[in-house]
Amino acid sequence: MTDVAIAIRDLVVTYPPVHGGRPVHAVRGVSLDVQRGECVALVGESGCGKSSLARAALMLRPPDAGRITLTTPDGPRDLDRLTRGALRRARRHLQVVFQDPDASLDPRMTVATSVAAPLRVHGLRRDREDRVTALLDAVGLDPALGHRYPHELSGGQKQRVGIARALAPSPAVLILDEAVSALDVSLRAQILELLRDLQTRLDLAMLFITHDLSVVRSLAHRVAVMYLGSLMEVAPKATLLATPRHPYTRALLDAVPVPDPTLQATRIVTPLPGDPPSPDAVSPGCPFASRCPLREARCDTEKPELRTVADDTLVACHAISE
Ligand SMILES: Nc1ncnc2c1ncn2[C@@H]1O[C@H](COP(=O)(O)OP(=O)(O)OP(=O)(O)O)[C@@H](O)[C@H]1O
Ligand SMILES: [Mg+2]
Repeated sequence: MTDVAIAIRDLVVTYPPVHGGRPVHAVRGVSLDVQRGECVALVGESGCGKSSLARAALMLRPPDAGRITLTTPDGPRDLDRLTRGALRRARRHLQVVFQDPDASLDPRMTVATSVAAPLRVHGLRRDREDRVTALLDAVGLDPALGHRYPHELSGGQKQRVGIARALAPSPAVLILDEAVSALDVSLRAQILELLRDLQTRLDLAMLFITHDLSVVRSLAHRVAVMYLGSLMEVAPKATLLATPRHPYTRALLDAVPVPDPTLQATRIVTPLPGDPPSPDAVSPGCPFASRCPLREARCDTEKPELRTVADDTLVACHAISE
């Protein structure tokens, strides 16, 4: 049974060249679904295109090609085809939390005003004050903090406000781009706990972009592994952690040191010798070929498609069969 909340199909994001350089192929044809009540973690090295994918899915920077279909209470909506007004209405169901809460909170607005902003934008007038109180309570903040300004709050409190604000219009889908990365270890654990609780309670579909394997462990149902603008593997969390199939996924997991209470230790670090090829170079073959231990001749000329190799496991690799 499928209950798709957001479907991303063949998404392409290409940034135009700057200063006579070459265009940057940040996202090269990515397809990914998130179901209702499901958390998909999107992982990969810095610069592989995770935020570009997120911004395109949110239509903050519309994709150069591809389709984004959001399931709304009024039926499915292809976000990339909507008029501006219709997109604004559909956005109510698709919200985002970024890494830096300061970037999304207006320093001149009180917490309550910030949290109520999406309600105003979407014309949700009923019981607005009660709703703000309930939201602050839901994210573990004293509703009395509603009268404060962002500079009077701690980093963790601000991130909670950001989450309350994103939840205000009761979205079906929440995209989180490194939403806990700036927090220290204990705060991060608290916010993850909060997100897990909210996710189950509200049956949210979450796309959680992260560098942090502890986030994958605590929250994800499925994991999507991205490399140089393409998905290399998509699998249920337990399967991916126990039996990673793609050589890049294996390298990512091998690179994670034994759990240690320091921040660095739980992060996915650059797992392989050498850097990924620059995203302004386009090879017709597999993006991972230059660093891959399983490289074959056709890997340089033919891009492997993401295909099902086992139950719910998708892998893009010529060398891996069922
Ligand atoms: N607005 C932009 N204009 C031009 N190039 C960009 C722009 N935004 C990102 N890029 C480039 O696109 C590629 C993908 O960047 P993106 O920010 O999506 O990666 P990321 O996976 O989110 O990285 P990180 O983990 O560091 O946040 C990078 O090469 C980056 O330099
Ligand atoms: Mg990013």
